[in-house]
Amino acid sequence: MRIDVVTVFPDYLAALDLSLIGKARQSGLLDLRVHDLRDWTTDRHRTVDDTPFGGGAGMVMRPDVWGSALDAVLDGDPDGHLVIPTPSGEVFTQRHAESLATEGHLVVACGRYEGIDARVADHYRAAGRRVSELSIGDYVLNGGEVAALVMIEAVGRLLPGVVGNPESLVEESHGAAGLLEYPVFTKPPVWDGHEIPDVLLSGHHAKIARWRRDRALERTAARRPDMIAALDVEDLDKHDVAKLAELGWHVTDGTILRIPGAVAD
Ligand code: ADE
Repeated sequence: MRIDVVTVFPDYLAALDLSLIGKARQSGLLDLRVHDLRDWTTDRHRTVDDTPFGGGAGMVMRPDVWGSALDAVLDGDPDGHLVIPTPSGEVFTQRHAESLATEGHLVVACGRYEGIDARVADHYRAAGRRVSELSIGDYVLNGGEVAALVMIEAVGRLLPGVVGNPESLVEESHGAAGLLEYPVFTKPPVWDGHEIPDVLLSGHHAKIARWRRDRALERTAARRPDMIAALDVEDLDKHDVAKLAELGWHVTDGTILRIPGAVAD
């Protein structure tokens, strides 16, 4: 996969030289190129922004500079997918990461200030290009760089060969099961008086799987009730249904409903 990142702070992206993504770059699995937006300015001051039409606080990034930069890094590739991190985007999830990981070429446009002139996204969309405006969560950062790091790591680790043991991608939080991951433990078996659950030492695989599934259901019900409500009933066995009832969720006619007042929140 090729990923081009355009930013006014190329140094921000230095973290992508580290760890598994850094290795993927070295081995050629990931062709990641970071560009300085100011390379496409034409004035002496290398200006990338200006005041907003209609008034208001802050500065907006100029569409002409962005247009030149994006045309250059898209490099005539009709399949280049433009990703624009923005707090006003759709919320980026593991589903977006999975979908973006199947692409051959991503171009990530990191805005600063009040964002990029809206004509930029419209222009590339109108030209038939895929454009995704994505937010990494309901909070505001100073620019798209940190969000780009988040998305590139989430996408990059899904590329074949980047994570050494692909099994470790299977049971993760936000994976296909639609549940948060169960708690995990390692040595020593007793730490500062804290023991690990006996079942994990039993060697009984079915019991361990059930224990983990129950903990995942409990965690998800407590922390992310929206994910319980979104579970596919077809994926639940009778133990899941019983566990959910204990947690105050009723499974009926293909839907999962919270039983009001069943369990103290
Ligand atoms: N830029 C500023 N805030 C952001 C957010 N929450 N997600 C993506 N890009 C951003």
